[in-house]
Amino acid sequence: MLVAPSILSADFGRLNEEIVAICDGGCDLVHVDVMDGHFVPNLTIGPVVVSAVAKIATKPLDIHLMVQNNTFFVELFAPLKPKYISFHIEEEKHPHRLIQKIRDYGISPAIVLNPHTPPEAIEYLLEDLDMVLLMSVNPGFGGQKFIPSVLEKAKKLKELINKRNPNCLIEVDGGVGDKNIHLLKEAGVDVVVAGNYVFTNDSYENAIKSLQI
Ligand code: DX5
Ligand code: ZN
Repeated sequence: MLVAPSILSADFGRLNEEIVAICDGGCDLVHVDVMDGHFVPNLTIGPVVVSAVAKIATKPLDIHLMVQNNTFFVELFAPLKPKYISFHIEEEKHPHRLIQKIRDYGISPAIVLNPHTPPEAIEYLLEDLDMVLLMSVNPGFGGQKFIPSVLEKAKKLKELINKRNPNCLIEVDGGVGDKNIHLLKEAGVDVVVAGNYVFTNDSYENAIKSLQI
C-alpha cells in the first residue's frame, strides 16, 4: 500500500518542517488538496504555496483538485510537475479531453469520485487513466468519518479496472487510519491518503509505516 499524507492537516506555520518530516518518514507521495470555495465549501492553497511545497518535498506531489473550472487549475499547477493531477468527474463536462491535456504535460491523469458517484460513471475513461481516487468522505475538510460503502465501490471498480486497464491504481481519500487499512487492502486499494491520522500521531514515520501494509 502506498501512502500519501494530506498536508491539509499539517501545521501551516511550520510547513517546511512538516513536509520534511513526512518525506523523511517514508511517505510515497505528498497529497495536496486544492479547494476553490465553490466546488467545496473551503478554500486552501494555490500555486504560490504549492511551488514552495514542491521545492521542499523529496517525494512526488499528488495534487487533488476540488474546484470549478478544472482546465484553468490544471494549467496553473502543471508547471510544478506533480506526479498526479486528479479532478472530480462531477465537475467536468469533457473529462476525456482534460485527461489528454494532463498527459500532454507529462503528468499522470487521475479522476476523483465523490461518495455518491458510481464507478460505472468512468468505465469508458479507465483505459486513459493512471489512477482513480475514491472519496471516502465528502470533500472539503480533513478529520471526517470514513464512509464504509467505499469498500464495496473499490471492489466494483477493481473489476472494471481488471477488464479495461489493469495498470490503473485505486486511491482512497478521507478518514483513513489503522482501523480500516486492512479492509482497504482487501478491497484492492493501492494508495491511501491520510491527513488527520498521520499529523496527529507523535511519530509521522510510525503512522506512515502502519499504513504501508
Ligand atoms: C478532503 C481531502 C482529504 C483530507 C483527508 O476533502 O480531500 O485529502 O485532507 O483528511 P483525513 O485523512 O483527515 O480524512
Ligand atoms: Zn484529498
